[in-house]
Amino acid sequence: YSKSDENMLNAHEFAAEFYHHLLMNTEEGEEALNYLLKRGFTKEDIETNGIGWSLSSWDTLSILLQREGYDLDEMTESGLIIKRENEQSYFDRFRSRVMFPIRDEFGKIIAFSGRILHQTGNDAKYLNSPESPIFHKSQVLFNLDKARGTIRKTGQVILMEGFMDVLATNQAGIFNAVATMGTSLTPQHITKLKRLVEKVIICYDGDNAGQEGAKRAAELLQAEKLKVEVAVLPDRLDPDEYIRKYGPDSYKKILDKPQSYIAFSMMHARRNKNFQFENDILQYIQEVLEELVGKSPVERDLYIKQLASETNISEDAIYTQYRKLDAEQA
Ligand code: CTP
Ligand code: MN
Ligand code: MN
Ligand code: MN
Ligand code: MN
Repeated sequence: YSKSDENMLNAHEFAAEFYHHLLMNTEEGEEALNYLLKRGFTKEDIETNGIGWSLSSWDTLSILLQREGYDLDEMTESGLIIKRENEQSYFDRFRSRVMFPIRDEFGKIIAFSGRILHQTGNDAKYLNSPESPIFHKSQVLFNLDKARGTIRKTGQVILMEGFMDVLATNQAGIFNAVATMGTSLTPQHITKLKRLVEKVIICYDGDNAGQEGAKRAAELLQAEKLKVEVAVLPDRLDPDEYIRKYGPDSYKKILDKPQSYIAFSMMHARRNKNFQFENDILQYIQEVLEELVGKSPVERDLYIKQLASETNISEDAIYTQYRKLDAEQA
């Protein structure tokens, strides 16, 4: 870290303590604290993760940072505060939000994500720190600092969409989950994961957006020669919602029996298809066969049998199609 990076990190540590104090010990933080307790966080969870609350005031943090001797232009660069145009004045980026510290893989706070308490008007549900010299969104995996030991020990990492899902997963007693920070999976994320594990279990939200994201992430990881499995949650639930609804034991069972990459791809390819229509059947077979090129003969046999029984097309015909595709791609 450079000297300027150090200043920004110190300021983030300072801000996190301030936000945390407001949440735990002040009247202003009461509603947020109740919100978190209602969402299933214990006070211990809140302590461990250093969760906080930012005031509705425009400049409490700015004033405090200045009093502590921080350079406010540097603080602007760090994303904690914002400089008003044409004016020598500053205001706090985060106001009236539940504050979740984002840590780098060494446990240093490099950013925040702030959640509004009530979804009213058109304020975004989450406000994240902007890119800064210490926060590179495309590289950060939430919880990697805490999860690293378990990830190494189990040889597996669970990849999620939301950091709330990771926190809920921790509460359920599973400690090898990480999440991207509202971005899709990047090559930098994959490089980090590859250094730690051979297998990634994707557990994204069960809604359409989540399942499309899961498919894209699975393809990228697979292309990088990582073993990929996908845990799919029912009823469009996300991991956090699933745990609240069905409990940790049921959740663990789902994570213990993820689908193979191909089984997931087949299920994904079947989504929004209607086998009453010839075209949908042909397209389905084609999509699955493309996934099967280069797979072992045993896997190929298994999934072609499945294709045949799902579509009522003969295994022979599907094999013929497969060989054509295989020859084209060779
Ligand atoms: N996200 C974001 N900005 C938003 C909405 C989402 O940055 N306005 C990112 C956040 O990093 C969030 C992730 O996308 O963790 C997943 O979004 P979503 O599923 O909508 O959020 P949840 O994690 O389910 O949050 P909550 O349970 O609090 O609604
Ligand atoms: Mn940097
Ligand atoms: Mn979502
Ligand atoms: Mn979600
Ligand atoms: Mn959620």
